[in-house]
Amino acid sequence: MAGENRGIKLKIQNVSKNYDARNAKVTALNQVDLEIRENEFVCVIGPSGCGKSTLLNIIAGLIEPSQGKVFLDGEEIKGTGKERGVVFQQYALFPWLTVLENVKFGLKLQRLPDKEATEIAMRYIKSVDLEDFVNAYPKELSGGMKQRVAIARAYAVNPEVLLLDEPFGALDAQTRAQLQTELLNTWQTEKKTCFFITHDVDEAILLASRIIIMSARPGRIKQILDVDIPYPRTQETKNSAKFLEMKAEIWNEVYEEYLAVIK
Ligand SMILES: Nc1ncnc2c1ncn2[C@@H]1O[C@H](COP(=O)(O)OP(=O)(O)OP(=O)(O)O)[C@@H](O)[C@H]1O
Ligand SMILES: [Mg+2]
Repeated sequence: MAGENRGIKLKIQNVSKNYDARNAKVTALNQVDLEIRENEFVCVIGPSGCGKSTLLNIIAGLIEPSQGKVFLDGEEIKGTGKERGVVFQQYALFPWLTVLENVKFGLKLQRLPDKEATEIAMRYIKSVDLEDFVNAYPKELSGGMKQRVAIARAYAVNPEVLLLDEPFGALDAQTRAQLQTELLNTWQTEKKTCFFITHDVDEAILLASRIIIMSARPGRIKQILDVDIPYPRTQETKNSAKFLEMKAEIWNEVYEEYLAVIK
């Protein structure tokens, strides 16, 4: 049994999720099966409402599936765990804590001594260029800055699995490019497994070793594509012939699903 799971970090087995909306039942996910290998970088792309965040929250252990199971290293997950770090679509900061205190939060939960927690937090705050704002409160920051704090907080606890829900969606193009590069470096040097949701085809190709295209609600996996472009990748990778070829292919697939939503 253990041998079967070797190299598989996350296994999503027959996962469905129904929500009870006011008058009707909403099927957000319908029988999703997926295996994610250790150190893989998976990007998930699909139209609004197709269940991407629902799937991420189930993997994070924040919500329970209506049916099916999720395994981490071969063990069924029960709730959240420090081996899985989450960056939410909406920066979820504590408004009453400063930037430094927000980033230190998870480290304090792990009972790290204050001095050490501060050192680690400062390192990650610097990596997102916010050292001038360590003592600011979230309300004093722009949306992009708040999201950078949320990213620093997730990286600081050094989880094996990073679950990122459109983490760069609200950022300006320069910051976005900088954080993409930073994330690729972190992923390569620290051997993390990444599950990354995006609406941006370019971002998905630049980052992912595999791209999961989801169909319009109820969310199912429509297609899985290997991104056959070697790492290390840089922003220049976006100009390569292979990249542009994949972009055209993925656009067609994804566009069909977006049309299914608006029709
Ligand atoms: N707590 C909830 N209660 C009821 N319905 C919900 C709840 N959360 C999500 N849904 C519904 O489930 C479906 C999937 O939602 P989800 O947030 O997972 O989509 P998404 O793919 O992340 O969309 P987006 O790209 O807009 O973030 C939607 O139809 C949504 O309305
Ligand atoms: Mg979402």
